[in-house]
Amino acid sequence: MTTICFINQKGGCGKTSSCLHSAGAFAALGQSVLLVDIDPQGSLGQGFFGPAAVESLASSQTVAALFDDDAFLSDPQHIIRPTGFEGIMIAPTNHHLAAFNQPSPEKTGMRQFVVRDFLEGLSGFDLVLIDCPPNLYACSWAAMIAADYVVIPVPPEDFGIHGLPAVHQAIDQARTLNPGLRRLGHLVTRCDRRLVVHRNYEQTLRTAYRRMVLETVIPEANAFKIAVTARKPVEFFDPQSRAAELTRQLAQEILHRIADRTARRRAA
Ligand SMILES: Nc1ncnc2c1ncn2[C@@H]1O[C@H](COP(=O)(O)OP(=O)(O)OP(=O)(O)O)[C@@H](O)[C@H]1O
Ligand SMILES: [Mg+2]
Repeated sequence: MTTICFINQKGGCGKTSSCLHSAGAFAALGQSVLLVDIDPQGSLGQGFFGPAAVESLASSQTVAALFDDDAFLSDPQHIIRPTGFEGIMIAPTNHHLAAFNQPSPEKTGMRQFVVRDFLEGLSGFDLVLIDCPPNLYACSWAAMIAADYVVIPVPPEDFGIHGLPAVHQAIDQARTLNPGLRRLGHLVTRCDRRLVVHRNYEQTLRTAYRRMVLETVIPEANAFKIAVTARKPVEFFDPQSRAAELTRQLAQEILHRIADRTARRRAA
């Protein structure tokens, strides 16, 4: 089982969309995927079930239960539910998690490890995708402690790129507790290559981070938004669309990168 967290302190850069739509593509490629929503906004679960259904979940039915010392979970796996799509399960969250998303994560004691411990108790999944909130607080930290890889979605614009040093600093800090954590790459999202500014920023990112930028670029495309309105990953909404095709390409690139890294580690 390989765990990837999608992280960036920039809001609206496409973290949740990357998780939701790539889950569809991974499932289409035969992977068994667990989505873990660790953002108190609860957007990932809402993408499948709608806002009302997710907001009405009790704390004990969500990821918040993992963080709550007072919650008695006879079996933490009970927070995992089907999405309705074959090969995709989800551990949803909602506002109950907000109380645990503290700004100084390294001071949260054993809570730093609750996601890692939860995942260690699971079997039967090939991939775990964790959707993080737009900050580097306790929830993103717990995700990095639990993960094998980080993907950093980045829109090719000023505000998207300027927060990146803080993200890399947080990854370096997390590696002191989780030395196995690796950067899978930056993912250029919401890109409109007709715009000179987007083309220039993409180039800036590739010059600065070289191979640490995934080759696949996710464009700004209505199909992603419409699919979510239909409560589906784009793969299941419109598999023939360019958006679905590029998301499959992304999923394949991620799987190749993981296979490549694993082979190199074994050879070393
Ligand atoms: N490639 C895309 N094309 C079109 N719209 C997109 C794309 N990616 C994301 N969006 C839209 O932009 C908005 C923000 O995207 P998303 O929720 O994925 O970002 P996020 O990084 O998870 O946000 P937050 O920081 O609030 O968690 C959503 O309305 C989503 O539908
Ligand atoms: Mg989000």
